[in-house]
Amino acid sequence: MQPKLPAGDNIMINILISSEHSGRMSEIVRLVTACGSYTTTRMQGEPSTLLERGDSLDVFDVLIIDASSLERAELPAVDVLVHRYPSLTCILLLPEASPAALIAAMRAGVRDVLNWPLDPRALGDALKRTIAQHAADQRHETHMVSFISCKGGAGTSFIAANVGHAISTLHGKRVLLVDLNQLFGDAAFLVSDQEPPSTLPQMCAQVDRMDAAFLDASLMHVSPGFHILAGAGDPLKALEIREEQLEWILGVAAPRYDVVLFDLGQSINALSIVALDRSAEIHMVLQASMPYVRAARRLQEILVSLAYPVDRLRVLVNRHRRQDERARSALEQVLGKRPSHLIPDDPQVAYDAVNLGEPVLKTARNSPLARSLQMLAQNIANHSSGVASPDKRDESLLAKLFGRSGAPRQSTVS
Ligand SMILES: Nc1ncnc2c1ncn2[C@@H]1O[C@H](COP(=O)(O)OP(=O)(O)O)[C@@H](O)[C@H]1O
Ligand SMILES: [Mg+2]
Repeated sequence: MQPKLPAGDNIMINILISSEHSGRMSEIVRLVTACGSYTTTRMQGEPSTLLERGDSLDVFDVLIIDASSLERAELPAVDVLVHRYPSLTCILLLPEASPAALIAAMRAGVRDVLNWPLDPRALGDALKRTIAQHAADQRHETHMVSFISCKGGAGTSFIAANVGHAISTLHGKRVLLVDLNQLFGDAAFLVSDQEPPSTLPQMCAQVDRMDAAFLDASLMHVSPGFHILAGAGDPLKALEIREEQLEWILGVAAPRYDVVLFDLGQSINALSIVALDRSAEIHMVLQASMPYVRAARRLQEILVSLAYPVDRLRVLVNRHRRQDERARSALEQVLGKRPSHLIPDDPQVAYDAVNLGEPVLKTARNSPLARSLQMLAQNIANHSSGVASPDKRDESLLAKLFGRSGAPRQSTVS
């Protein structure tokens, strides 16, 4: 698996891929990912099913339709989609395209028709043309961050929920927290006493009708700028969630937020990998004691073996006490990494906040615990604002587009 690098100072292009064939779908995702830092969302089915998904397509830049024949490409449906979403660039993949098929596809508003087997360069060129088109608009970028627990009770949900609240309240960002805990999704209850209107497995079961309004009604609104997609709460229901369903929800939801935080709990599975692949920062949450340090080392090994770059991994020590200094230096030796952040132990403040179902920032604003959570929030918010200026973007884009092939050079004769 090759995790996609979040686009950083590039433009984030959101690509939706529809195919009826899972093998070809994986091949398309692989080739698209190899072309650059694109975000992919998979949709198993034919183009006409997309017509039923309300306004949720307006967040995508590119629609790649893989069809086994011209009939299966459902050009009348494609025509409707392309007119409904003028900024959506449509690329059609066909086993072979006759000149008549090409003309029909172009008439329906398809920008490029590519043949199987898919030529990586032709695909790359088609995608680059899309970037060029979108370079003019200032694309909105979402900063995604995962919190993963080295061992139960580390404080992962507590930190994710409180930091989410702080980023939205103190930095004016729109924040979504996605609770991917399989066993017991409780992140919502740590900062709110409301019952979530829906949970991730319930939303996944109705993914076919997921548009912006439905999404919004399904999320818990802790405050106007801080929403939570509540976790499963039922391990059996959690098992029913499929990766493409989560991809679809994230594809629709993420562009509407400045920051998306994931509470992954302790597990690495197909769903958490969807989140990790999209995360620019992966915070491993632990406490400064040997059982946690051992678990953290194992987690770090797994993440590295899954090809997540070490510079995206952060060591987040929670419940830190002065007397933990020795365990902390052992931790640095074992992990070969200094903690990026230490959050102090404050059982009373944490206990009060959790029992009230309120963020620590509200219950004990000036406590060292609240201040530490604020610093972490500030750090994440700063990274989320680190989006390059449009000028800089254009520069890197032009370098990318013309760097190698080069604009026609003037030869100087001396
Ligand atoms: N810095 C802290 N100081 C004191 N107690 C804490 C701190 N962080 C978390 N806790 C407590 O630990 C409990 C478990 O945290 P939780 O976030 O549910 O763990 P996890 O999600 O990693 O299993 C919380 O209910 C909270 O009361
Ligand atoms: Mg938890």
